[in-house]
Amino acid sequence: MEDIFRHAQGHGSALGEGISCLSQVLYLMYLARARKAISIAEIGFNIGFSSIAFLESSPQAKVTSFEINTETHVKSAKEFIDSRYPGRHRLIYGDSTQTVPAFQVAGPMDGFDLVFIDGGHEYSCAKADIANARRLAKPGATLVVDDMIPWFKWGIGPTTAWEEAVRDEIVTPLEYVSDALAVSRIQGPAERAWVVGQYR
Ligand SMILES: C[S@@+](CC[C@H](N)C(=O)[O-])C[C@H]1O[C@@H](n2cnc3c(N)ncnc32)[C@H](O)[C@@H]1O
Repeated sequence: MEDIFRHAQGHGSALGEGISCLSQVLYLMYLARARKAISIAEIGFNIGFSSIAFLESSPQAKVTSFEINTETHVKSAKEFIDSRYPGRHRLIYGDSTQTVPAFQVAGPMDGFDLVFIDGGHEYSCAKADIANARRLAKPGATLVVDDMIPWFKWGIGPTTAWEEAVRDEIVTPLEYVSDALAVSRIQGPAERAWVVGQYR
């Protein structure tokens, strides 16, 4: 993580926001390993911390990231990942509300084992990402949605979209994680919180 941070920072960008914390990176790595996820998609790459989590989970793991930002720090993080994990990472640039529906998987069993949603935080984007990624996921795939923190303005969209997905029986909740502790429901205060579920 430190290496990729320095590499991306070395290209003139001010970094600091919108990156996974260490506890989340470790959690994602162990989750992917525990669920034997080999084919993994994430929406929101930024400088690749969550990609590293998944690529470190298993030497077989392959990651497809969707990212709207084409600035230098994103491109240099991609270069770094390609040098460390050759042939195991694919980055699709563009707005996920367009690129995810346009992405083709050959059949349901070729879909993703695990999807991590951490892209646009507006309600409409988070809602579209949860629904669109389901079409690319294997039946019963694991879903993680970041930012279940509706007491911050950037948490309102993802939390509302998640709650609606549960209500509409698109997903079954498995675990909430709040400031690195497993909890039974979304509840503040917390700085970082995410949810794990299973697509139905
Ligand atoms: C919180 S950051 C992702 C952090 C990353 N998952 C990590 O662990 O370090 C959110 C990223 O989503 C990207 N993003 C925002 N809206 C998007 C959209 N509509 N489509 C694709 N990516 C988007 C942003 O450019 C940003 O890089």
